[in-house]
Amino acid sequence: MAQLGALVLSNDEEFRRRASAVLRAGAVPIGILEERQVTTGASEPDLVFVDVRVDAPAGLASIERVRADHASTIIFAIAGATEPDLILQAMRAGANEFFTWPPEEEAFRGAIRRAASRREGALASARQPSRTTLFFGAKGGAGTTTIAVNCAVELARHGGRPTVIVDLKPGLGEAALFLGIRPRFSVLDAIENIHRLDREFLRELLARHKSGLEVLAASDQFDRPGPQDAGAVEELFRILARTHDHIIVDAGNSIGSCTLAALYAADSIFLVTNPDVPSVRNAQRLVERVRQLGAGAERVQVILNRTADHLLIGPKQIEAALGYRIEHTFPSDYAVVSAALNSGVPLTMTNHSELAAQFSRFTSAILDGREPPAPAAPEKKRAFRGPLYGALRGLCSRYRIAVLGAHSAPARERRGA
Ligand SMILES: Nc1ncnc2c1ncn2[C@@H]1O[C@H](COP(=O)(O)OP(=O)(O)OP(=O)(O)O)[C@@H](O)[C@H]1O
Ligand SMILES: [Mg+2]
Repeated sequence: MAQLGALVLSNDEEFRRRASAVLRAGAVPIGILEERQVTTGASEPDLVFVDVRVDAPAGLASIERVRADHASTIIFAIAGATEPDLILQAMRAGANEFFTWPPEEEAFRGAIRRAASRREGALASARQPSRTTLFFGAKGGAGTTTIAVNCAVELARHGGRPTVIVDLKPGLGEAALFLGIRPRFSVLDAIENIHRLDREFLRELLARHKSGLEVLAASDQFDRPGPQDAGAVEELFRILARTHDHIIVDAGNSIGSCTLAALYAADSIFLVTNPDVPSVRNAQRLVERVRQLGAGAERVQVILNRTADHLLIGPKQIEAALGYRIEHTFPSDYAVVSAALNSGVPLTMTNHSELAAQFSRFTSAILDGREPPAPAAPEKKRAFRGPLYGALRGLCSRYRIAVLGAHSAPARERRGA
């Protein structure tokens, strides 16, 4: 699914802020556009939210203006109350949807889904819609870069479509290093030139890997991209969605304004964790933070990296602690991973290990538009569970990991989705 661009038209700043939060919180990734971006023609809005609550004539005039300039944009008229006359006038002015504020959630989500599928339909006739897949580490060294890079290489090799990896980690990003390439430009060059970043300019900034993967390398400045760059990062993802079919993001392991902009843009957010207590505890806190930030908790999926036969915390306990199903498991194989790292040749290109096979399975599911298959919990785990379960509960309470019911809300919703 491609990210939708939404514009909120209102003189009420608090309304603009709350409407942006409501738009961003759902399952469909939505980026918020500035009015300037639309009036200068830099961005075409997919959705426009028009406030007709206080000044209906001005609101209706805005709807007419937007409709005249953007024939295929979906316009939402947002009123204070359901007034049949106002509904009629809004529809005549060109609105597609009419809601009272705050909108009834189920009906509102349905309207957003309709807008997204209309947009997909329009894009499908032009080209395959772009998909943004973001990897985020529960802690440093969880394996985020290893997974993001190998996944990106597999998508580029087998997808046969334009694929780019964006390294958002400030200062210490290693995606280019893992790929054995020396980029001349970085994310920072894209951000600093965002207003003139077109297809040709972008091509100059991207480094190419022999798999066909393109790389927007990490900034070498520790404080950039920083809070001042969040708007440009959001715009960067909208530009990439027009030029690339698969966008992979190595988002590092801390949530700043730029990570948040990327989280909003992502169709899938893979949280990479390891089967140890600190990782599970951090993963739990990050899942909660994503939920608080309203960055579409339904898009979060959990990856368990570096599993071994004898785990102190088994997949079922991790699922229970996080309230999310583990979508994919990658085994621990230090020899294979470090040989790939030292040679600069991704393991998926040279190796026939179980780890390489798992990457192939994981990316085929992304290419088919399926969720990666959830692995069955190894049989051995059951034997371990009894004696260690009490110890695990002790550890969990010491580190303040709440053990939820095995099928908590997000996991259940996702399965039903
Ligand atoms: N499945 C695995 N089996 C064995 N070792 C692994 C595996 N995945 C990652 N590693 C090793 O773990 C270390 C950290 O991996 P990586 O750099 O991908 O993690 P990261 O989360 O991106 O770290 P950082 O926080 O520094 O960005 C590396 O030495 C890598 O070789
Ligand atoms: Mg990394």
